[in-house]
Amino acid sequence: MSDRRYILAGNWKMNKTPYEAQQFANMLADSLVGFTFFDIYIAPTFVALDRVREAISSSNIKLAAQNMYFEDSGAFTGEISPKMLKELNVSAVILGHSERRKIFGETDELINKKVKKALNDGFVPIFCVGETLEERQKGLTFAVVEKQVREGFYGLSKEEAQKVVIAYEPVWAIGTGVVATPQQAQEVHAFIRELLVKMYDDQTAQTIRILYGGSVTPENFFGLFIKKDIDGALVGGASLKESFVQLAKIMDKIITK
Ligand code: 13P
Repeated sequence: MSDRRYILAGNWKMNKTPYEAQQFANMLADSLVGFTFFDIYIAPTFVALDRVREAISSSNIKLAAQNMYFEDSGAFTGEISPKMLKELNVSAVILGHSERRKIFGETDELINKKVKKALNDGFVPIFCVGETLEERQKGLTFAVVEKQVREGFYGLSKEEAQKVVIAYEPVWAIGTGVVATPQQAQEVHAFIRELLVKMYDDQTAQTIRILYGGSVTPENFFGLFIKKDIDGALVGGASLKESFVQLAKIMDKIITK
């Protein structure tokens, strides 16, 4: 097991009203007491952030946002600024999720601007990469992931790069129930770490945390999480229910044993 501090992050996507989010966050705040050996993040929708912030204020759960813009204020209708998130105690921001890339047309260049802004403003960027099924079938997985990592990290110093959390989320595994096998995930995680050695150095590559995401459940989590280069999970569907608590229990057991 490495020295990296592991992460369990829940991406609630466009689920739960503010009230539902608050109720669920209250439950999590109670159930996750004592899990202090890894970082726990939950990412509700923007409109639920304030209520969830209150619900978890005296817990060990940290607040994450699902996106943000790279300017502090101005004429950007419909966008949310880092400054607004700061005031709500948000500490991490998911950036470049495949749903943002695919449905909302976010480019590597835009995502890079957001990553830089997040680092500049003291957020932990949870930067997502991953190939589509078609790209995997064509043997393009490494090429696609390399381009996304290189462009997402463009212009970052070694010190900045070390603060980024990468989430490898194969698009074909997101919300499909088709999880990557531990071998498939580990292979890409190791590839990303080697790439980071080339882009920076060994120490930087060993510091950066790389999460797996895509149909993670309590049933498949153990096999993934024991892999050398998998430093935790970014969880969608299973983070909306009691199963998130089970995932925390599994992670705790592996880390503390
Ligand atoms: P699922 O866990 O629902 O597959 O979603 C993964 C994801 O996209 C997390 O960001």
